[in-house]
Amino acid sequence: MDRIEIQLYLMSMEYLLVSPESLKRAAEVLRSGGLVAFPTETVYGLGADAYNSEALAKVFEVKGRPRFDPLIIHIASIKALGDAADLSLLNEETRQKLFLLAEKLWPGPLSLVLPKNERIPNLATAGLSTAAFRLPANELARELISLSNGAVAAPSANPFGALSPTRAEHVRDKLGEKIDIILDGGPAHIGVESTVLDITSKNIRILRPGGTPKETIEKLIGAVGDNDFQAGEMAFGLASPGMLKSHYAPQTPLSAFSKKEITRLPCEKNCTYLFFDGLSRDKWLEMSPNASSFSVLSETGSLIEAAARLFDVLHELEKGGFSRIYAQFAPQEGLGAAINDRLRRASSE
Ligand code: TXA
Ligand code: MG
Repeated sequence: MDRIEIQLYLMSMEYLLVSPESLKRAAEVLRSGGLVAFPTETVYGLGADAYNSEALAKVFEVKGRPRFDPLIIHIASIKALGDAADLSLLNEETRQKLFLLAEKLWPGPLSLVLPKNERIPNLATAGLSTAAFRLPANELARELISLSNGAVAAPSANPFGALSPTRAEHVRDKLGEKIDIILDGGPAHIGVESTVLDITSKNIRILRPGGTPKETIEKLIGAVGDNDFQAGEMAFGLASPGMLKSHYAPQTPLSAFSKKEITRLPCEKNCTYLFFDGLSRDKWLEMSPNASSFSVLSETGSLIEAAARLFDVLHELEKGGFSRIYAQFAPQEGLGAAINDRLRRASSE
């Protein structure tokens, strides 16, 4: 690409603070088949009109995302689910569970896999007869969706496999010139993607741990299964391709370690250490008085704070020129399941 072309590209991207005017403008762009990056409470999404195949094709192209990886369909109200999902295919028991989950946990970081109707192109769902639906908690996101055609397909707004964007700047730095509009609505406060739950199969299960803890779901509908991490190694026939083993990865190699392993952490030059909490860091510092670079996800060990900071901190560390990041797993409970899932997939082993 020569210089002039690059300039044209850059000029065509609009970076706008969220306002009533910019939301209107962004909705117009969505309606006419363009791409809009917008804030949600989990991470920034790369939105396209979910009913428009050409717009959907652009999403895959811009992200470098394989076509076997289906997108999440964002809606602005529970009622709007009927416009894009075929709920007549659900049996009574599943229907009850759906409405219980939707009434209690929507809007929020939960994507529900349901039968789609014929209005949603197969491209959106990688040929599956189901789609993942989500009603985001971010009001500005819902406003944008309701001003558009009512259903917005949006994967995380990052190149495929890379760290997810929790700030508009992350989107601009990695995808900027390829998108029509980036709406800046400040940092995403949850910081990890939505939990993807498949309620259509007989054994209801979490396909991707995320912002809604398993415990919260189980309180409402009883025991649910987990995604088998090993299964993610298969490239095809994935129940949920977010299961791909290598995903959410920084450009710097990353090794994850458990609390027990703190005393055995290698002491390498030019690497950096990311601790879950202040106590773990202190324990490590006692043994490594010459320690150089380290950071902490949550000084007090709050899972909510740690999740909110995870991708943000990894984006910063990625720019630090380190040879390796050693990152500590969180306790495997609540949002810790999502944090640990992302660390496992980010890990280079
Ligand atoms: O928090 C989020 O969910 C963010 C924000 C932007 O809303 N979006 C997001 O989208 O993370 P994406 O495309 O990066 O992840 C979509 C996940 C993938 O793991 C995909 O495999 C799964 O949802 N998924 C989508 N449709 C599915 C389906 N029909 N069956 C099973 N899994 C599906
Ligand atoms: Mg993603």
